[in-house]
Formats: sequence, structure tokens, C-alpha cells
Amino acid sequence: MDFVKIFDTTLRDGEQVPGCKLDTKTKLKIAAQLDQLGVDVLEAGFPISSPGDFNSVTQISKTINNAVVCALSRAVEKDIKVAAQALEYAKKPRIHTGIGTSDNHIKYKFNASREQILERAIKAVAYAKRFVEDVEFYAEDAGRTDNEFLALVCEKVIEAGATVLNIPDTTGYCLPEEYGAKIKYLKENIKNIDKAILSCHCHNDLGLATANSIAGVQNGARQIECTINGIGERAGNTSLEEVVMILRQHPDLNLDTRINSKLLFQTSRMVSTEMGMPVQPNKAIVGMNAFAHSSGIHQDGVIKKRETYEIIDPKDVGVTDSAIVLTARSGRAALAFRAKKIGYEFGKLELDRVYDQFLIWADRKKEIKDEDIPVIISESNI
Ligand code: KIV
Ligand code: ZN
Repeated sequence: MDFVKIFDTTLRDGEQVPGCKLDTKTKLKIAAQLDQLGVDVLEAGFPISSPGDFNSVTQISKTINNAVVCALSRAVEKDIKVAAQALEYAKKPRIHTGIGTSDNHIKYKFNASREQILERAIKAVAYAKRFVEDVEFYAEDAGRTDNEFLALVCEKVIEAGATVLNIPDTTGYCLPEEYGAKIKYLKENIKNIDKAILSCHCHNDLGLATANSIAGVQNGARQIECTINGIGERAGNTSLEEVVMILRQHPDLNLDTRINSKLLFQTSRMVSTEMGMPVQPNKAIVGMNAFAHSSGIHQDGVIKKRETYEIIDPKDVGVTDSAIVLTARSGRAALAFRAKKIGYEFGKLELDRVYDQFLIWADRKKEIKDEDIPVIISESNI
């Protein structure tokens, strides 16, 4: 079994969601939870961007004991220096520096040439190395960068001391096969790749962030950059809980993380509450309906054996139980199951009568609650 490092960027890329800016106190609370959850790297912020961000990175650096604390910078000396200052107290500091490498970014963002970008990348990594041992380089828009040029940039920044190479699909454009092939190409064509690890950083503009990250690790990447609930710019980032549970539910991949999955639900709710960003009910792993069954056929199966319609034990992600939701589509098995939980048991004929009454109620109400059941029973004349 090989381990994939989890690089959490909830407090940096995740916080770029409009209206979700967090204060230092809240960031410290979330950082402590992420450290407990077992993330390997915690990206605490972008120190040059504001005094508030600088302060958050400094305070998080002081308090985090297990995870590597990482700070973002552009490939600009001032940025890197400020990132290093904010990380001064970190037990395990990492500077994350980089530059756009796609022709699009080179031409329109920097009005530069490939050679100039390569030089700036090397200089930035070498400068960051003066402050910390652990330097991660990001090739922004790597998803749309020519593979040959990308491999050259990676090789040269490794020579300059980069320990991790972040290959972001910044615009969420790639298909899983394409992103996986890119990682494979880099693994096979960067001469000194044994001195660094490749990292996946995928955005979700086409809903493919999780699939792309998994394709990345299947092809040799050993770090995934992700956020709780998949929050982030535009359509968001790779969702931490999804990649963790995909690797755990597929032992055939021979890849795992060090995440304590039992804390996933609690962490999801904390981030959602603090950021004021509700989790969609059908969100994989942590949505309210992720373990709820409402159709009669599914309910009957789950009551007989949970695994018939559930591939994850809800307890493994910190959810107490599967939910059998009573609606007009529920069957007798579900009604009997829920009634038994609150102390009622029926023979077959009695159940038929209660069920007829239940259907009248269920057609009127969207969902039948525990407190409705005794009333339905009393109206059934059994
Ligand atoms: O999406 C991206 O390219 C980024 C980099 C700054 C790492 O977030
Ligand atoms: Zn990003």
C-alpha cells in the first residue's frame, strides 16, 4: 500500500469563494480541526495578499503540531520573503511558489516568452530555498500547458530545490484520461523526478476535479490538493472527503491516505457553518441525503442488509446511521422498521391497515416523522 498525501487548501483556495472570507480566530479553529483530521499539509493562506492573511498564517504556524504549514506566493521575491516571515514559527514550514506556464498565461498574463518564465520559475524556487527546505512549485494552468515545456520547467525547478511539483488544472478543463496521461508523461520524462513528488490540484469547472485527481494518483502523483466540501473559486476544488473515501473504498488501487475518516462529517459541518456555505443535500459522502433511503425497494434492501444499497458504512465517515425516510414511496418494511424503533410492532394484518392510513398521510405530507406514527396508528383502528 502506498500513501497519498492530502494537501488541504480550504483556508486558501477554498476561502477564495466570494463572501467566505474568514477571520483569524475562525481560521485557527478550522486549522485545528484539519490537523486532527490528519491532513499532511495545510495551506494556511497567501500572506502578501493582506495583513489579515499574514496574521492568520503566523498564528496557524504557531499552533499546528502535526501538519506541514504552507503559505502561497507568486514567483516574486517580495511575496516569497513575506511568506517566509509568516511561516517563521511553523514546525514544518513549506513555501508554495509558482507561475503560469501555459502559452495563454505566458502571452496574455505576463507578455513574456517561455524562456523568461522558465528563468523566473527557477529564480523563485532558489530564492524560497534560502528560507525553507520544503519548497513546492506550482505551474499554473498546467492542465493547458504543453507537456514538453512543462517537463522542462519541472526538471529545472527540481534542480533549483523544489521538493513538490504542483500540476494544477487551474481552469478545470482536462478530461481524466488527459490529466492522467499528463502525470504519466511527467513521471516518465522529468529526468530528476526521483527527487520530488507530483501533486494534483484540480478545479471542478466541468465536474471532473475528483475524477482527475484520482487519475493523477493512478498515474504516479502522490499528493492531492483539495478542500472540505470541494469549496473554492468558481465551481470549486477537488473535494477532500471524496478522494479520501474513493481510495479507501477501492483497496485494489493500493493507495490510501492518513485521514481519520470518522471526522469527515463533523469537519464538513464545521466548515459549512463557519463559511456560511450550505452543503448540497446530494453531496457525495457528506450531504444530508448521502445515507438516506426513501424508495420502497431500496429501503427494503437496506433493512435486510445495509450493503445492498450502501457502499460506505455511514459510521466510517462519522454519520451515526443510515436514514430510512418515510415518504409516499416507502413500503411496509420501512414503516414497520421505523415504528419498531419507537416501540410499535404489528402482525401482518395490522401492518396492512396502518400502511393504508400511512399512505393517506404520506400523500398529504412530504415526509412522515416519528411523531406522526402514533397518530397514524390510532387512526387505523387496530
Ligand atoms: O488553481 C491554481 O492554479 C492555484 C495555484 C495558485 C496553485 O490555485
Ligand atoms: Zn487552485
